Amino acid sequence: MPNEIVAMLVTTFLLFPTTDAVLHGNVYTHKDTWPSPAIGSPLRPQRPSLELQEMLAEIDPERIEHTVTTLVGFRTRHTLSTQESSTEGIGAARDWIYHTMKANAGTSDGTVDVYLNSYIQEAAEFYPFSVNVSNVVTQVNGTVDPSRAYVVTAHYDSRRLDLMDFTGDAPGADDDATGVAVVMELARVMTKRKPKATVVFAATAGEEQGYQGASGSAHLARTLRHAGYDVQGNWNNDIVGTGKNTPFSAVNDFIVRVFGASIYYPNTSSAQLREQYSVFGDWNDSPAHNLGRFIREIAAGAARALRMRVELVYRPDRMGRGGDHYSFLAEGFPAVRFTESVEDFAHQHQDPRVENGVQFGDLLEFVDFEYTTRVARTNLASMWSAANAPSTPRNVGISMSVGALASNRSARVEDLSNKSQFCWATGHDSLAVGYELVWRPSGSLDWTHYLNVGHRGTVTVDLPKDDLQFGVRAVGKNNMKSPAVLPVPIDSC
Ligand SMILES: *[C@@H]1O[C@H](CO)[C@@H](O)[C@H](O)[C@H]1NC(C)=O
Ligand SMILES: *[C@@H]1O[C@H](CO)[C@@H](O)[C@H](O)[C@H]1NC(C)=O
Ligand SMILES: *[C@@H]1O[C@H](CO)[C@@H](O)[C@H](O)[C@H]1NC(C)=O
Ligand SMILES: *[C@@H]1O[C@H](CO)[C@@H](O)[C@H](O)[C@H]1NC(C)=O
Ligand SMILES: *[C@@H]1O[C@H](CO)[C@@H](O)[C@H](O)[C@H]1NC(C)=O
Ligand SMILES: [Zn+2]
Repeated sequence: MPNEIVAMLVTTFLLFPTTDAVLHGNVYTHKDTWPSPAIGSPLRPQRPSLELQEMLAEIDPERIEHTVTTLVGFRTRHTLSTQESSTEGIGAARDWIYHTMKANAGTSDGTVDVYLNSYIQEAAEFYPFSVNVSNVVTQVNGTVDPSRAYVVTAHYDSRRLDLMDFTGDAPGADDDATGVAVVMELARVMTKRKPKATVVFAATAGEEQGYQGASGSAHLARTLRHAGYDVQGNWNNDIVGTGKNTPFSAVNDFIVRVFGASIYYPNTSSAQLREQYSVFGDWNDSPAHNLGRFIREIAAGAARALRMRVELVYRPDRMGRGGDHYSFLAEGFPAVRFTESVEDFAHQHQDPRVENGVQFGDLLEFVDFEYTTRVARTNLASMWSAANAPSTPRNVGISMSVGALASNRSARVEDLSNKSQFCWATGHDSLAVGYELVWRPSGSLDWTHYLNVGHRGTVTVDLPKDDLQFGVRAVGKNNMKSPAVLPVPIDSC
């Protein structure tokens, strides 16, 4: 590109940040990486297939508006509210979601299940009496790999400032009718298609009362684990309707935050794994981080259709807060949380009221349905891409005897290299036609380079493992790539 055009673009970006500039930001533009890579190619985000582009166009902002409006109309969706009424309370919301999911799946050819995943929550903290907690679920079984699953969640319960007030108005428009609208739109569009792995769409209850263990999502994650599903991702959408009166700018309106936990949260991984992460400096390479990177890359590759940039935040959630993805992390599944770029605390958990001319409350009027539509498309692009790609590779190791010190005098000088060697299992996944090694300088957070190594289970590269972070990912026939996997240090390949 001629210099004057570059200069013009830079000026344009600085003076008038265009949507394109915002979307592309500084993703994948590392120029001065250290150490200088001698091999591989700069990573280019994978592009959306034609089928995926068609599906993205089917996401309907009017249906999203209708879902959020209908859910707000139930007055409260508090988990302890009535389940006896057909017009208000959480029972009415549950039944409406169920019947709508059923109707939306009706045009599919009987390959879709719509069901309630319920349990009785006994009296406990924040549950003064026992209550039937029901998740409403649509499931499409994978055509090739049905036991591998991807789960999108959002909670349909709502709350007021007083968590125990289950009778007052709790509209919960942004938190989290918007997330439920995302889940229901994805279900509607995907039930008409045939994903290779299983996709699960769940509206959950009990999130506000007890996201740690005593919640619908905890029951769902346990149910899926007990049923033997290999859940390779949870997309949790909670507060995804950036309000029209929040202090958002043209930039924030085209950004969604994705929170990804390190291996240290929650404290459930084995002591050995935690030690590996701390000794080898892998705190930015958890399965949740690699799922988040995957979502960010898909969004960058489909930026034109999505008009949304994913900002990956390297913490489990906003500080001191949490949500349904914690339930999936607790079962050992990679899980991330989508939340709007800027929250407005005057319109979250607040009792609806006007004070000194200020309107408080999580009301419909503060939701931007176009924003929620972009969030839905970002979810759809990444979830569909994962569900049609091969599984993440298994048994990925990095050899500690290649590129290592000599232990005696008979080691030959030509073997004393800085090389890195990797190996992984092959043959168990009919979808994998090849593998890629990806890497980045240790101080960067996005993958910067990749090397396609073909359909084999090992590769040795002239790159120093001390200065780079690596991942291995599988590549499918359709050139769809799995999220990357962090290699475990092993004695030798
Ligand atoms: C989907 O898979 C589950 C688990 O194997 C099975 O119980 C269910 O009947 C399947 N649904 C359809 C529609 O095939
Ligand atoms: C909870 O309520 C749902 C909806 O009425 C019902 O289908 C389910 O059987 C109930 N669950 C239990 C455990 O009672
Ligand atoms: C985390 O787990 C380790 C053992 O794996 C334990 O020693 C430590 O007390 C735990 N920390 C917390 C905060 O639970
Ligand atoms: C010397 O070290 C190499 C590895 O560095 C090892 O393969 C070899 O067995 C060692 N030889 C002796 C005699 O210990
Ligand atoms: C190790 O890497 C450095 C630069 O990163 C290079 O100068 C040196 O030649 C390498 N050593 C071997 C044995 O390849
Ligand atoms: Zn919420």
